[in-house]
Amino acid sequence: FLGLLGGTALAATGCGEVAGELLAGSAPMPAPFTVPLPIPRVARPVSPGLYEVTQRVARVEILPGLRTEVWGYDGTFPGPTFELRRGEPATIRVRNELPVPTSTHLHGGVTPPDSDGYPTDLVVPAGGHSGHGGHAAHMTHPGEVHHEGAKDYRYPVGQRAATLWYHDHRMDYTAPAVWQGLAGFALVRDEEEDALPLPGGERELPLMICDRSFAADGSFRYPRTHEGHDSDYMEGVEGDVILVNGAPWPVHEVTATRHRLRLLNASNARRLRLRLAPGGGFTQIGSDSGLLAAPVRHDTLPMAPGERQDVVVDFSAYPVGSTVTLVNTLADGPAGNVMRFVVARRAKDDSAVPKTLSRPPERPVPVTTRSFDFRRTGQSWTVNGRVYRPGDLLARPRLGTAEVWRLTSDFHHPVHLHLAHFLVLARNGRPPAATDAGWKDTVDVRPYEVVDVLARFEGYRGRYMLHCHNLEHEDMAMMADFEVV
Ligand code: C2O
Ligand code: CU
Repeated sequence: FLGLLGGTALAATGCGEVAGELLAGSAPMPAPFTVPLPIPRVARPVSPGLYEVTQRVARVEILPGLRTEVWGYDGTFPGPTFELRRGEPATIRVRNELPVPTSTHLHGGVTPPDSDGYPTDLVVPAGGHSGHGGHAAHMTHPGEVHHEGAKDYRYPVGQRAATLWYHDHRMDYTAPAVWQGLAGFALVRDEEEDALPLPGGERELPLMICDRSFAADGSFRYPRTHEGHDSDYMEGVEGDVILVNGAPWPVHEVTATRHRLRLLNASNARRLRLRLAPGGGFTQIGSDSGLLAAPVRHDTLPMAPGERQDVVVDFSAYPVGSTVTLVNTLADGPAGNVMRFVVARRAKDDSAVPKTLSRPPERPVPVTTRSFDFRRTGQSWTVNGRVYRPGDLLARPRLGTAEVWRLTSDFHHPVHLHLAHFLVLARNGRPPAATDAGWKDTVDVRPYEVVDVLARFEGYRGRYMLHCHNLEHEDMAMMADFEVV
């Protein structure tokens, strides 16, 4: 089919060079480590506890000299960072001026069900959604709720300090919407964390890592439809350009001091195994759901889509004037690079990583065990053999209890639970990896692996979901509902 398309283009233009460009079809790659690392703007409340953010189309410079149309919260990619404090409820009024409906999920948030970004709980653009061209046309689903123009998402923020993120979560359309830019950070802070001498200010960097592909004109390139279910789409879409905070292979100057990196893998499908070159390693201080009890050293950090790693890197271990490159050992070629730090000068460092960081919640005693199998069934990705249908409940855990959820799979499926945080108990009956430490909300279930997690159902009753965070799998309905009762 591609050959045929190439042939047609060639015939139509009668020009080999243009056809060659069409076949390659991608933008020139920027030289790595030349674009400065952007830091997303911190959102300011319009009144105490109330934020407003508008999802809109914007044209931004991602590849030097080219414009890319993004769908951004406030027109930026990543969206603004929400700085939240434990015990201080926040309302985020999300206005939708995009050509498509949206639903915003606070990933890792302990959120009431009506603000959790359920896939059919939609904010439709004011004046009715247009359908925006063939494949984006909005299919309605049973039980769909429409909020005209805007919705107030209410976040009680009763949870511990943690690196959360927010992104679109609409039924059948999460992957293209996030690819187009609908994602940002939300950082929860609390007194326990304030009391620690961790690096802060300019020495605390939220780093959203994701991959994208670009067409020759600079626009994002994404497979047009999954209706054909071509095999690339089936496995999840990967891009050949690595972005950090929306910039390709950026560079950032640091002082020769400790820095806190809040790493997020926001890719649709690409898994990472991060390493520093030259080596030196990471001191992990937190996981998806907050600070660890004590720091853990790692040489490499595996990160599946949706996962966060809160780490400290001590740049005083490197000579002034040297460079330290963050690489992804799972990829070859350009995609194996992520970003670079330049150790610019010495500076005073009052920070430290204490031996005791926090008192995470105790390990609860489970009341039952349930199994969830993530598997390809024909041309579908299923949970326990079922293609997702909103409202189809697979489990009804009781509020205030904990359960062992046994996750099995036929492929890499990063499994994410809404509301419930969990501890990884075992992989294939053996102790979990050191990088599985701490309370989490997303875990990579590897091919033919059995992963036992201990999940706590705290906070709210109501309908939530678990799903694969490979966003193409999610859109192909690898999701399930559970209800906390
Ligand atoms: Cu980050 Cu239900 O997703
Ligand atoms: Cu999956």
